[in-house]
Formats: sequence, structure tokens, C-alpha cells
Amino acid sequence: MTRAHARRSFLRYLAASPVLASGLWSPLRGVLAAAEEASDHALESGELISSVEEAINVFDFDAVAREKLPPAHYGYLATGTADDATLRANRSGFSRWKMRVRRLVDVSEIDTSVELLGTKWNSPIVLSPVGNQYAFHPEGEAAVARAARDTSSLQILSTVSNTLVEDVIRERGAPVWFQLYPGEDWEITKGLLGRVERAGCPVVALTVDSQGGSNRETFKRFAKRDKRDCTLCHDRDVPNNVLLRKPLFSDIDLSKLGQLSPRWATWELVRRIKDATSMNLFVKGIVSEEDAELCVQNGVDGVIVSNHGGRAEPSGRGTIESLPEVVSALRGRIPVIVDGGVRRGTDVFKALALGADAVGIGRPYVWGLAAFGEEGVQAVVNLMHAELVMTMRQAGTASIGEISSDYLIR
Ligand code: FNR
Repeated sequence: MTRAHARRSFLRYLAASPVLASGLWSPLRGVLAAAEEASDHALESGELISSVEEAINVFDFDAVAREKLPPAHYGYLATGTADDATLRANRSGFSRWKMRVRRLVDVSEIDTSVELLGTKWNSPIVLSPVGNQYAFHPEGEAAVARAARDTSSLQILSTVSNTLVEDVIRERGAPVWFQLYPGEDWEITKGLLGRVERAGCPVVALTVDSQGGSNRETFKRFAKRDKRDCTLCHDRDVPNNVLLRKPLFSDIDLSKLGQLSPRWATWELVRRIKDATSMNLFVKGIVSEEDAELCVQNGVDGVIVSNHGGRAEPSGRGTIESLPEVVSALRGRIPVIVDGGVRRGTDVFKALALGADAVGIGRPYVWGLAAFGEEGVQAVVNLMHAELVMTMRQAGTASIGEISSDYLIR
């Protein structure tokens, strides 16, 4: 029996245990939730795939990532906030919607292209920003950029990337979007905006879901098991130490920068950012109709419905549940991307049917990165895209524009 199989059997045994159900072992739940998501789906034999060709679905990459990464890094990837309720809701929300399919439609040609702010993309699947990618693979964001180039995907680069935006754009061979965490010092934020605009980014996505902070319990549990000396990369005595290895911040005074996602931020900051740049502005982290309307009122060009992959607030509400109210408030005035828990072509289909213009993935492509580098990212995107094409055929929708709420039932 492989180690992975033995662990899965143990987790299943624990999950079924009346002791766990009684709540006595509740601290273990977060760890189980993260691990069980993979164990439910990874190869039943317990064998890990050794090449991308062997992958049956994206969870196969998760299983390999779990095996390859140090516990603290895997925990950082897998964690949600608090008891992971929002993380689980992101996944389970999709199963509340069933597809309502049509028959005898000509589906010989499938067109998966979408348009976002006048730019055409071959697929609605977007690579959401994930920071610190050296934690998962030595080539980090550059490997993701090459995979994005080869799959013609839209890549959104995190503020806290290990690779410079200029280098990522070179590897991608085309502009990427930039995700912004503003600091407390406006001059620094303005400087970052100017730099990424000069580099060629057409869109900046301001993340607004992190201002409340988050308590990542599952990460803490995994980190406890990591016995390596982490001080080489994580110098806890230095303020903003996680930014030390971020080249974008190499010539920035970190003590002046202050907190990323400042607690005092309001819509005034959104307007200030909008006025300071000619890039299009998306706001990432919108989950309510009121805030969707405020986006429009404040001149925002697009919205990303997101709860940071269950890592922001412990609301217990999945993004697929938030999407309809945001779509209905926006009334098509600006485009909507949604991310959170998207793991299958059917999830992409359901999000599009509920009104999203495009659909982001975070962890799945990072599983691919951690497991097999660039090739893994490419394989994950291709797998999900192939699933989407098959789902569209099965539903009787030949183009993305044909996918509507008529194809869903609760
Ligand atoms: C993220 N996410 C994120 N979002 C952001 O705006 N800036 C960032 O730097 C990061 N970093 C980051 C790191 C890791 C390890 C994860 C898992 C996520 C959130 C990300 O953009 C996206 O919203 C979620 O990952 C989508 O959920 P799934 O697909 O991971 O379930």
C-alpha cells in the first residue's frame, strides 16, 4: 500500500468516526477538509500519477502536489480561513445547481471564445492571481506564463509575485493583467500602478477582500508539521518579511509601505486608483449586489466575484451563491468574472449560465505547477477546457453566448 493510499484510508476512517462527528475532534476538521477534497477524487488505487498524460481530472495534480510540497507550502495552498467553511461552500455550491440539457442540437463545432473589454479569448477559463509561486515551483510565475501562452489563457499576476511583471509578460509573449494590493502609502501604490502600466498591463484588478485579515487555521496545522528551518526565506523579525523576496518591492521602503490591504480603505481609494491610471480597473472580491452597484457608481470597469478561494471571510457562502445577485445588480453594464471552487468543466458551465463572462481558477493550476511545472499548468488548463467543450456538447450549447440560466435548474 502506498503512503498516499494509507493516508486516504485513515482519513476516511476518521471522517466516518462517531468521535469526529461528535465535535470532540473539531480541530482536525480543517485538515481533513483540505485533504479529503483530493482523496475523494484522486486515483482510487492510491497511486500517484507520474506524468501529465495519466491525469484523469485536476484532483490528480492535487494529490501529487500534496506529496511533493513541504507541509507548510501545501498548507498555504490548501487553507481556507477559520474552519474552512467558505472553502467548502465554494465547492458544494456548484452541486446545488443541476444542468438542464437539450437534445438534437448540432454541436459538431463548439466555440468557447469570450470577449472581455474588447479583447477576445479562446476560452473563458482565466488564471486567477496566486502569490508566492516560488513556494510551489522554482520557475513560479514564469512557468505559469509559458503555460498561459501555450493555452492562450488570460493570466492575472499577483502583487506578491516572485517574478517581475516585465519578465512574466516576456514569458507570456503578451500582456498579463495585474492584481493590486494597495499599501498604506499612496505614493508607493501610485508607483506600482505606473510601473505595471508601463510594462503593458491593460487591466489592474484591485483585491478588496483582505482588509479584514484572515485566520488560516489549516495552514497553521500543516506548518506545525514542517520541521525545516524556514528562516532563510521567512524572517519573522522583519516587517512585511514576505515581501523581501518579491522583486517588485526590491527598491521600495517596506517600513513606509505599511500594511497591504489597509484597514482604512474605502471607495475613495477605488476612485483614487481609477483616476491615477489609464488601465481598466476591475475590483476583485465583490460578493453583494450593493457593492456591485457601488462598483459601477465609482467608475469600475469590471468585477471579480471572489472570496479569495475561501481564504477571506468565514461567511460560509460560496461565490457561486453570490454570483446571481451581483450579475442582476450589474445588468450587463460591466463584465463579471467569478472564481472559487471551480474544478470541472461543469462548474465553468454553471458559472457562465449564471451570468459570468469568464471563470477563474486558482488552486487547480497551482496543483499542476507544483506537480509538473509548466507542463502541469498546461495540462490542468487543457483538461478543464476539454471538460467544458464536452459539457457544452452534452448540454446542446454550441457557443458561450448560448449558455444561459435556461440550462440550469436548482
Ligand atoms: C490566492 N488568491 C489571491 N488573490 C489575490 O487577489 N492576490 C493574491 O496574491 C492571491 N494569492 C493566493 C494564493 C493562494 C495560495 C491561493 C490559493 C489563492 C486568491 C485567488 O486569486 C482566487 O481568488 C482563488 O484561488 C480562487 O479559488 P480556487 O480556484 O483556488 O478555489
